Amino acid sequence: MTKINPELGYQHCLERVLISEQELQTRIAEIAAQVSQDYAGKNLILICILRGGVVFLSDLMRHITIPHQIDFMSVSSYGVGARSSSGSPRIVLDLNTDIRDRHVLLVEDIVDSGITLDYVLRILYTREPASLNVCVLLDKEERRRVAIYPRYVGFKIPNEYVFGYGLDLDEVFRNLPFVGVLKAEYR
Ligand code: IMP
Ligand code: MG
Repeated sequence: MTKINPELGYQHCLERVLISEQELQTRIAEIAAQVSQDYAGKNLILICILRGGVVFLSDLMRHITIPHQIDFMSVSSYGVGARSSSGSPRIVLDLNTDIRDRHVLLVEDIVDSGITLDYVLRILYTREPASLNVCVLLDKEERRRVAIYPRYVGFKIPNEYVFGYGLDLDEVFRNLPFVGVLKAEYR
């Protein structure tokens, strides 16, 4: 794995744009419309998994037309500097909200092996929410090791390392408005 140099800019590591800003915004507006319809009158709470989900959450919630709350969790599942899962997630920041009898929608950037979401779902189920569903922007189906059935999926993507729109490359470039594929030499 070649180390990236953030000073050289994202262009240096970008193989190609996979999902453009326009495609992201169009699809997110569609998902938000569906969520607004499905959860009408249901006391919705969006739970964002930090840090990757934060850009998706902020765009999604601004398109949702029904009242809702938000809260955050942080789960570590990737070794520092590594671009593959360590496979042993743990909660590093828990919710501030009691989700018992609440309609919960987990908002996540990407489902890869499924291990992170499986872990979070198991923990949240024990807190007895009224409902618990997943809204994920990107689905790398091919890499799945644990079955996860998200209620909403933005885009199914191939098995490549992606960054931008919340997803990091060594903790930078989350601010890019598009999703890009990492060049092979940095993988
Ligand atoms: P999983 O537990 O293998 O499903 O991994 C989920 C987490 O790994 C996501 O929340 C991301 O933070 C991270 N991740 C997986 N694939 C990528 C990628 O291609 N780019 C950036 N982060 C990724
Ligand atoms: Mg994540």
